[in-house]
Amino acid sequence: MRTPDYPSTESARWAAVDDYFAGLLAPPDADLQAALADNAASGLPAHDVSATQGKMLALFAQMVGARRILEIGTLGGYSTIWMARALPADGKLVTIEFNEAHAAVARRNIERAGLSDKVDLHIGRALDVLPTLSGPFDLIFIDADKPNNPNYIRWALELSRPGTVIIGDNVVRGGAVADPGSDDANVRGVRAFLDFIAAEPRLDATAIQTVGEKGWDGFLLAVVRA
Ligand code: DHB
Ligand code: MG
Repeated sequence: MRTPDYPSTESARWAAVDDYFAGLLAPPDADLQAALADNAASGLPAHDVSATQGKMLALFAQMVGARRILEIGTLGGYSTIWMARALPADGKLVTIEFNEAHAAVARRNIERAGLSDKVDLHIGRALDVLPTLSGPFDLIFIDADKPNNPNYIRWALELSRPGTVIIGDNVVRGGAVADPGSDDANVRGVRAFLDFIAAEPRLDATAIQTVGEKGWDGFLLAVVRA
């Protein structure tokens, strides 16, 4: 069992259900397992999405018929692999990673999975890279430094079209998101992100809490209105 980001007395049971679901519906394959092993061996933080969450992202990509996916925050490329596999043969995934060491691990993981031709990995500050991209993207996954989430959602809108699906990771943070007085910069970033989305007439959104091997967290889900 991985160390949950948000531990609880229930952690082991949540992880057991994730193992059960993942074994049935998102069974481990060699390239995904190797990516997680390399991430750990390289000292990357274990903040990858879980297998069931990776499968969920891949299903979202299929549901929207995504041909172009944008990921802000590559880490070791685990979620990248899940989403890129859901692309059609001519599909592209653009992913941005600030940390060069993390990006080097991600590049190897993506290569091993045979996805180098579909994945365009940019190394640098997302706020420097985003203005160089041209949209629209069909699906956008925001999973980088949370204090910049309000900036990332603005860029996501800029690079979207009506119908684009936007997903934000880690919006619950062990329940801390509900504390309006939090002085945690991550919580404040997520709250400002949610405030922006709530006030943005071009977005229709919800947020969903999850428990599992990562503990208690959740996703923001939004669609750009027609
Ligand atoms: C953290 C970041 C993540 O993207 C994640 O999925 C879990 C935790 C963090 O910075 O704590
Ligand atoms: Mg995350």
